[in-house]
Amino acid sequence: MLFKHIALLAASTWQTARAFTPTSAATAWKSFNPGWNLGNTLDALPTEGSWNNPPVVNATWDDIVASGFKSVRIPITFNDHYISDAPNYTIDPVWLTRINTVVDAALSRGLWAIVNVHHDSWNWADLSNNPADLNAKKTKFEKTWVQLAGLLKSKSEKLVFESLNEPVGSTLADAAQYNDLNARFINVLINSGGNNAQRIISLPGLGDNSVYLTDWFKYPGNWQADKWGVQFHYYSPWDFGAGWWGRTFWGSAEDKAAVTSDFAQVKGNFSVPVLVGEYGTSLVGRVVEKAAGWAWYDHVVRTGIKNGFALQFWDNGEYFNRATHQWTDVTTKNIIVAASAGQSNTIPENGYGTIWIKSGATLAAQALPLQYNGNTLKGVYSGTTALKSGTDYTVTTNPTGISLTTTYLKTIVGKNLGALGTLTIKSSSGADLEIDIRQYSVPTIDKKAYTVTAASDLSIPVKFNGAKLATVKAIKADGTILKDDWTQWLGPLQAGRVNWSDDFDFSGDNLVAKASLLNAIKSSGSQPVTLTWEFWPRTDAANNVVTTVSVS
Ligand SMILES: *[C@@H]1O[C@H](CO)[C@@H](O)[C@H](O)[C@H]1NC(C)=O
Ligand SMILES: *[C@@H]1O[C@H](CO)[C@@H](O)[C@H](O)[C@H]1NC(C)=O
Ligand SMILES: *[C@@H]1O[C@H](CO)[C@@H](O)[C@H](O)[C@H]1NC(C)=O
Ligand SMILES: *[C@@H]1O[C@H](CO)[C@@H](O)[C@H](O)[C@H]1NC(C)=O
Repeated sequence: MLFKHIALLAASTWQTARAFTPTSAATAWKSFNPGWNLGNTLDALPTEGSWNNPPVVNATWDDIVASGFKSVRIPITFNDHYISDAPNYTIDPVWLTRINTVVDAALSRGLWAIVNVHHDSWNWADLSNNPADLNAKKTKFEKTWVQLAGLLKSKSEKLVFESLNEPVGSTLADAAQYNDLNARFINVLINSGGNNAQRIISLPGLGDNSVYLTDWFKYPGNWQADKWGVQFHYYSPWDFGAGWWGRTFWGSAEDKAAVTSDFAQVKGNFSVPVLVGEYGTSLVGRVVEKAAGWAWYDHVVRTGIKNGFALQFWDNGEYFNRATHQWTDVTTKNIIVAASAGQSNTIPENGYGTIWIKSGATLAAQALPLQYNGNTLKGVYSGTTALKSGTDYTVTTNPTGISLTTTYLKTIVGKNLGALGTLTIKSSSGADLEIDIRQYSVPTIDKKAYTVTAASDLSIPVKFNGAKLATVKAIKADGTILKDDWTQWLGPLQAGRVNWSDDFDFSGDNLVAKASLLNAIKSSGSQPVTLTWEFWPRTDAANNVVTTVSVS
C-alpha cells in the first residue's frame, strides 16, 4: 500500500513537471493581485474536510479564476499526518499525494500559488518561551520541508514557498528562534533539487504581525536577492473585524490613517517585496455592517496596492460558498477586484449597505448617501431594469448620493417582511454595489426574563420579522457595565457592548447568549443582567429588544 502510493506520487510529480522561467519576487507580486486564501481546508485539524469546508475540488479553482483572482494561498497543516516520529518525521504519502494534486490543479489553471506550513505553528512548531524540545522541533520543521520541497520541486515558477504561518511568540527571543527557522528553511530549499533553488520564497516575522516584522525580523541570507520577500497579515482593527464592543462602523479619516501608517511602516523598513498573505474581517453582512466592511476592504487593498504589496484575502469558506459557487456578498469580492486593478470604488456611508424600511411607519423617501471617490453615478438598476432618475430616485448633493422616492418604494413595499429586492448601483468605475432593501418590524420574543442555573449557551426564541442583529449591550441591575467597564469611554454606540460569537450570536430563530456571557453574569453576583439586543438600523433605539438574565 505504502509503496503503491510512493510510486504513484513519483509518476505524477514527473508528469506534471513544467517549464520553469526564473522570475523575481517583485514581478511575481505584481501578478499576484488580487489573491485569495483556500482557508479552513488543507489546514483543517485533523485533516481536510474536518472543519466547515469539504475537500477542495477543481470547480473551486475554476470559480476563483472566473471571479478575477490571480493567486491563491494554500495553507497546509501537517500536524496529524506524520506516520513516524524522530528522526525521520515521515509524512503520510497519502497526504503528500493529496497536496500534489491540489497544487497541480491550481497551477494548471494559471494561478500563482503559495504553500505554507500552517496550524502546526501553534502545535508542535511553537518555539516560543524556549521549549525544552526546541532542537527536536526545529529538526521536525526541517524534515517537513525536506519532504514538501522534494514533493513540489519540479513545479513551475508560479509556485511560491512560505516557511511557516503566524509563528507563535511575543518577545525578541522568540523572534530570534524564527529567524533561525527561516535560515534552516532556506538551507533545506538550497539542497532540495529541482527548480527550488530559483523559487520565490516569502518569509514571515513573528506572528505575521507588522510591528514584530519591522522590529525583529532578520534576513537569514543565502537566497538570491531578487527572489524573496517578507510577509505580514492584516486584520486591524480587531474590534471592528471581529464585532467586539459594538464596533460596527469603520471609515473615519482616523481609521483610514491607521491603515495607511501601518502599511507605510512596513514599506519604510523593507526594500524587498511585501506580501500581505492574509487580510479580512468576519463575514460582511452578518457580523460586519456591509458599507463599513466595503469601506475597509476598499481602503486596505487600495493602500496595499499603492505600496506595491501583493495581498491575499483570507476566506475561511464563509465568503465564497464552494457548494453553490456563489459569493455570499459579491460586492465585497467586486470591491477587492476593482481596487486591485487601481479603480476607484463608490462606497455607501456606514450603516447604508442595506436600506431598512420599517413596517407600519409612514412610507418615506429613503436616502442612500454615497461617497463617489472620484466616480460619477452611471445608473441604478433592479435586475436589468434601469430606475428613472427624477421618478424612482432623486440625486442628492448634501450628502452626495441618491434618495429612493415613495413612488418607487410603493411599487415594491407590500406586507412581506424581509428582503424586498436588491438594487445595483453602477458607477463610472469600480464595483457595482448590490444594495438589499429590507422591510422589518421590531423582533418579537414571548419570554423576556430568564433564570438559568448552568452557564451553557442560552437560546432565546425570537421572530426576527425581517430585522438583523447588530450588537448586544449587557448592563447589571445596579446600572454598571457587565464586562469591559472601560467601554464606557467609547461612547453611546459601544458602551457596555459585548462580543459577537464569544458572547452572543443568532442561530435559526433564536438569539443566543453564549456561555462566556452567562459566566460573566454568574460571577457578577446574583443580580439579573439586562441584555439589550440591538437591530439595524442602530440609529433607531425603538428597534431594540430587552431581556433580563439571571444565572444562579
Ligand atoms: C529514517 O530514514 C532513513 C533513510 O531513509 C532510513 O534508513 C531509516 O531506517 C529511517 N528510520 C526510521 C526509524 O524509520
Ligand atoms: C482536476 O484538474 C486537473 C488539472 O487540470 C486534472 O488533471 C484532473 O483530472 C481534474 N480532476 C478531476 C477530478 O476532474
Ligand atoms: C519601521 O517600523 C517602525 C515600527 O516598527 C516605525 O516606527 C518606523 O517608522 C519604520 N521605519 C520607516 C523608515 O518607515
Ligand atoms: C472581547 O474579546 C476580547 C479579545 O478576546 C477581550 O479582550 C474582551 O474582553 C472581550 N470583550 C467582552 C465584552 O467580552
